Amino acid sequence: MPNRPTDQWVNPLRDERDKRLPRIAGPCSLVIFGVTGDLARRKLMPAVYDLANRGLLPPGFALVGFARRDWDHEDFGQVVHDAVREHARTPFREDVWERLSEGFRFVRGTFDDDAAFDRLRDTLLEPDKERGTGGNHAFYFSIPPDAFPVVCEQLSRSGLADQTEDTWRRVVIEKPFGHDLESAKELNTVVNKVFPENSVFRIDHYLGKETVQNILALRFANQLFDPVWSSHYVDHVQITMAEDIGLGGRAGYYDGIGAARDVIQNHLIQLMALVAMEEPISFEPHELQTEKIKVLSATRNILPLDENTARGQYEAGWQGSEKVPGLLDETGFAHDSTTETFAALALEVDSRRWAGVPFYLRTGKRLGRRVTEIALVFKRAPHLPFDQTMTEELSQNALVIRVQPDEGITLRFGSKVPGSSMEVRDVNMDFSYGQAFTESSPEAYERLILDVLLGVPSLFPVNAEVELSWQILDPVLEHWAASGKPDGYEAGTWGPQSAEDMMARHGRAWRRP
Ligand code: BG6
Repeated sequence: MPNRPTDQWVNPLRDERDKRLPRIAGPCSLVIFGVTGDLARRKLMPAVYDLANRGLLPPGFALVGFARRDWDHEDFGQVVHDAVREHARTPFREDVWERLSEGFRFVRGTFDDDAAFDRLRDTLLEPDKERGTGGNHAFYFSIPPDAFPVVCEQLSRSGLADQTEDTWRRVVIEKPFGHDLESAKELNTVVNKVFPENSVFRIDHYLGKETVQNILALRFANQLFDPVWSSHYVDHVQITMAEDIGLGGRAGYYDGIGAARDVIQNHLIQLMALVAMEEPISFEPHELQTEKIKVLSATRNILPLDENTARGQYEAGWQGSEKVPGLLDETGFAHDSTTETFAALALEVDSRRWAGVPFYLRTGKRLGRRVTEIALVFKRAPHLPFDQTMTEELSQNALVIRVQPDEGITLRFGSKVPGSSMEVRDVNMDFSYGQAFTESSPEAYERLILDVLLGVPSLFPVNAEVELSWQILDPVLEHWAASGKPDGYEAGTWGPQSAEDMMARHGRAWRRP
């Protein structure tokens, strides 16, 4: 989409006719709790600006920060300005900024301060009057889950959670959504006491990524892939989210949480659900959720857990040319921390389509490089009419969805090596977003914030999905908690030896993306 000035409205009736046109949010204000945090600065504020720059926010929009800092509206504006300058995806335009920043407000306070929430309520009336935000409010919880109860309670007490027939209230919740099934259920009860389920938007930012939404296009817009998308042809599936960064500066959030809760419970299980689910009747939120819930309900851990899971903690090593410390020497981590920074598990889906096909999920910090991919690895051809030496360098066919970076899809298959013999070797056929499309992809948070403001919940996991994911993960976490320290692995490698052993027991190996 070319940039469109903010004040140029798209006729909503036209939207009805041509679904390719992006919809513009209606009048509203977005309140961010936890506005001084890293997420707000690096992702949320830039995404709000990028949406404004793309003409997708209405003139009647306000951004309201709530935090303890001794800031006034101008200080807050400066913080947003710096965040936008540093992290926004689209170019900085004075006119867009001017218009957007007129709707900035800041409320100082703590979560247990009734008066602060009363001030927030009064502050929200200003843009309603001055900018026509229409009394619609989205509350973004970029705060630790132990603060959810008090903030929900305050929003309820101050009347801020009350919607009327003409106005809406929505709450946006960042992960981690609990630390196990029981705590997730408790949190859901707390939130649902104040906000009905259809006003709750749980963020899993992986679902906002273009490459992740493209899984649905790849599977359900094409005839080519579905016939081979099953245990008849697929040997196994590997889902990898590897990061090269360490955890310096994140101890407060990460120590005691670990890789499985941080990434597998949400991002990787959601990716698995999109790969494994059946075709939804339509892309209406309810239909998508129904199919994801079905597949998550049919997902089991492959047993025994000590042979089919692996966990590790990074030790000092080299990341490229940089010498990096191990987790236990990172600031803020307990010296005897057993928090895992690498986690791998093997799952299976009890369904006609997938019986017998393992789904291997792994994630880790301080690994060889940053890459997220989903690889469907196919069975070998039942018969190869070649001399054995001719196919020694032929591996299994694979379809690899490259989620990031270098977004695209790779198909790996065998091809004849030029020459007089019938030697066959692996080659790759590539689709790359950068080459196929001129538009750059929006950031996940742009898409998700816009969907919240539009009230479109398709890309947000519902309560049942969150609980089913915990149900899958809980036995693994309990098993690990009872089995001492995680294995060590050197920073810059691909994880602990136990992860390699786990695959070797299945006669397989992890990909080296
Ligand atoms: C977050 C995790 O959800 O995703 C982080 O909490 C992780 O630990 C991040 O670094 C990775 O996101 P992305 O979009 O950079 O892959």
